[in-house]
Amino acid sequence: MLTLINNISTLAGITRHDELRLQGGSMRELRRIDDAWLLIDNGRIAGFGSKDEPQPQADVVIDARGGCVLPSWCDPHTHIVYAGSREGEFVDKIKGLSYAEIAKRGGGILNSADLLHCTDEDTLYRQAMTRAREMILKGTGCIEIKSGYGLNTEDELKMLRVIRRMKESLPVRVVSTFLGAHAVGRQYSQPEYVDLLVSEMIPEVGRQQLADFIDVFCDKGFFTPAETARILEAGAKWGMRPKIHADELASSGGVEVGVAHNALSVDHLESMTIEEIELLRGTGTMPTALPGTSFFLNMPFAPARTIIDSGLGVAVASDYNPGSTPSGDMKFIVSLACIKMKLLPEEAINAATLNAAYAMGLSESYGSIAVGKVANFFITQPIPSLSFIPYAYTSPIISRVFLAGVEYN
Ligand code: NIG
Ligand code: FE
Repeated sequence: MLTLINNISTLAGITRHDELRLQGGSMRELRRIDDAWLLIDNGRIAGFGSKDEPQPQADVVIDARGGCVLPSWCDPHTHIVYAGSREGEFVDKIKGLSYAEIAKRGGGILNSADLLHCTDEDTLYRQAMTRAREMILKGTGCIEIKSGYGLNTEDELKMLRVIRRMKESLPVRVVSTFLGAHAVGRQYSQPEYVDLLVSEMIPEVGRQQLADFIDVFCDKGFFTPAETARILEAGAKWGMRPKIHADELASSGGVEVGVAHNALSVDHLESMTIEEIELLRGTGTMPTALPGTSFFLNMPFAPARTIIDSGLGVAVASDYNPGSTPSGDMKFIVSLACIKMKLLPEEAINAATLNAAYAMGLSESYGSIAVGKVANFFITQPIPSLSFIPYAYTSPIISRVFLAGVEYN
């Protein structure tokens, strides 16, 4: 079936097929056509052009009413499978405790693990689906979801089964990441837990094919670079490529160990140094900034401006989780990238679309407007310019969402 979207004021985010990520100065280019149309055939982009070119015939015609069309956001780092919420810690932080202090007292991630342990799989699924639906209505079309609130074999597998169910039932593309190494489970010592990860959890996750990627919270007070290397090597045996948490709380060797193990992305980077930026040059690893986390925790922002000025690419993600970022609003992430990390609107939009798709291994099929890609896009209300998107940082400018060419509402 052919669907034509016409009366588009600006169709933005057009790329060539061989552009799987954008780096340095090319991040400023957000290719566009004004007064455009877009053709979809069986869920894929089949063509586009300006109103001066002949518009193809279609079975269904949708009037964009002078709105812009952009590729859906891609969110390459989330923890949306969790039980309940942690607003008590939010209040503790207002009163002066830091994220690291809360974790040291046995709160934080371990609180979520206790709650998840007592929550049945259906309830967990329902809660996570509510979060995913909210993200989709805010324009997100690809979501990476991590485990990491189980912290024992049984509960980690429970989380990954929930993610698999979401993969099967959601109209967005979902990829799953095993993050057993998020914190040490309460019943174990640190060395016991690392042994358990390597000898039991990872092989079981691998056998059941429950994860596309593997993650480690490689940071001060969590897992060391040596432990991280051991865990990533165990994951590699099962084909799980790393996407790791690095340099959130301190410059802790996470980038180095990530690059050494061919990580697809290194994420957080709030404490990243110039030397660590240099480690990324010439690699396939995408530095991924999580500005919502810095905003919520009142922490420094990742040096995304410097990274781009060094000629490298940057992706952004929400990090949606109950402790450090209880939000999956990618439009707000794009605004924060501009306001707090000094990215231009074009750079921030590329970071949240093509580069974000790259950071989850999906940029051949998602993340931009190109013939043959999956038709995941949204139509905005009429807006004065593309810069209005991050500028109007709380306005819900998205009016219609399409996933594989089908409207979602
Ligand atoms: O990416 N930093 C580690 N993990 C999450 C937070 C998890 C939590 O606090 O529940 C993050 O920010
Ligand atoms: Fe995270």
